Amino acid sequence: MIPVEKPGSYTGAELKGNIPKGVEKRLKQAAKEVVANSYSPYSQFPVGAAVYSENGRIYSGTNVENTSYGLSICAERTAIAAAVSAGEKIIRAIAIYTPTEELTVPCGACLTTIAEFTDPVLRKGDVPILLLSKTRKRLTSLKALLPEVFKLNPKEK
Ligand code: THU
Repeated sequence: MIPVEKPGSYTGAELKGNIPKGVEKRLKQAAKEVVANSYSPYSQFPVGAAVYSENGRIYSGTNVENTSYGLSICAERTAIAAAVSAGEKIIRAIAIYTPTEELTVPCGACLTTIAEFTDPVLRKGDVPILLLSKTRKRLTSLKALLPEVFKLNPKEK
């Protein structure tokens, strides 16, 4: 079992329950596999991400850097773009893998992108986030990492 830290709006058990048995393994495998394709010659910091979608599918993505550094895109957002391009609208869980000792926490832009594809009713806008490295793992959640999120219309739920 994965130790749960600061689960945000989920209780620990609910957070775990949102990554069904077997899915954690598939998420890890997908995020680890895709990291081999990372295009990160500038930072030398490869990242792999895998999204578990509403339809039970897994989409992966890696960071893609550019000689004009600011154009670089993170692994989480390429994985989400792949899911959305396939017609998905809801993220049930996301895993982020780095081939390092330390875990990598998603950047603010990626957290805000994850927030765009949550289920406001069933999961109250929260998403389990599984952080993975060569030797560590931590199960956290969107709301734990981003307690408040930008909304164009603040009255919107
Ligand atoms: N990166 C990600 O892919 N995800 C994150 O959440 C943070 C950072 C990438 C962007 C860049 O290619 C490299 O890591 C170093 O910042």
